[in-house]
Amino acid sequence: MHDCSCEKPLVPGIVEVIDIIDETPDIKNFYVRSENGVPFDVMPGQLAMVSLLPVGEGMFSVSWQEENDHLEFAIKRTGLMTDELHRIEVGQKLGVRGPYGNGFPVEECKGKDMLFIAGGIGLAPLRSFIKYCFKHREDYGKITILYGSRSSADLCFKDELFEKWPQEKDTEVYVTIDNPEEGWDGHVGFVPAYLEELNPSPEGTIAVICGPPIMIKFALQSLEKMGYSDEQVITTLEMRMKCGIGKCGRCNIGSEYICLDGPVFNLAQLRQLPPEW
Ligand code: FES
Repeated sequence: MHDCSCEKPLVPGIVEVIDIIDETPDIKNFYVRSENGVPFDVMPGQLAMVSLLPVGEGMFSVSWQEENDHLEFAIKRTGLMTDELHRIEVGQKLGVRGPYGNGFPVEECKGKDMLFIAGGIGLAPLRSFIKYCFKHREDYGKITILYGSRSSADLCFKDELFEKWPQEKDTEVYVTIDNPEEGWDGHVGFVPAYLEELNPSPEGTIAVICGPPIMIKFALQSLEKMGYSDEQVITTLEMRMKCGIGKCGRCNIGSEYICLDGPVFNLAQLRQLPPEW
């Protein structure tokens, strides 16, 4: 057994699943650990290739690296590979290699207020940046988190959203669901509309956004209306990452390979690309 490293990006290291948290009916958060702790260090927004023999492999965002103890992957059931992953139990061995992608610009964001906007499973990659900000709390200004999902059952990381994150210094957390439901006394409505209602100031703020394409499209329009410049808005096109190393040709937009230059871009950079994103 060996750990992965950047020098051997195609050789998976073996990790063991040490915990599985049911986040929603179709999202589980898997905690994995190699015999030495984490198989490799990951920055917020980076991804890793997870393999389950004999089923296959898939590229997933790392939703958190807990020191040198374990990595977390929040994975939504979307097909054969993820269906099988949802059937595994604690103790299962997986292959993991990486990390892949540029990750979020944690250094450039220092000193800024942070506005995180997420929908559904889109909170998974943002969570790594949110938790990074809390871990380095003095480096960042006010933190605002706006998260929405179809229903209350589809909200992931509920203990952090409702219990832990609101307790953090200078932090506001807003949660919404798409439609009214019995027993829910929180906000109801789509994320972009709630964003405009909250109207967070663009002054000294970086907005980081991830979620379904339709949510991103309208949230970007809302941010523009509120005065955010293209340089102040960051998103990740992580869903396009397949091989992660510029080989499969499945991530390109025009002549650009998302896996080689991204998947994290600011809006000014994305506007240089053909409008396929
Ligand atoms: S993900 Fe395969 S070429 Fe980019």
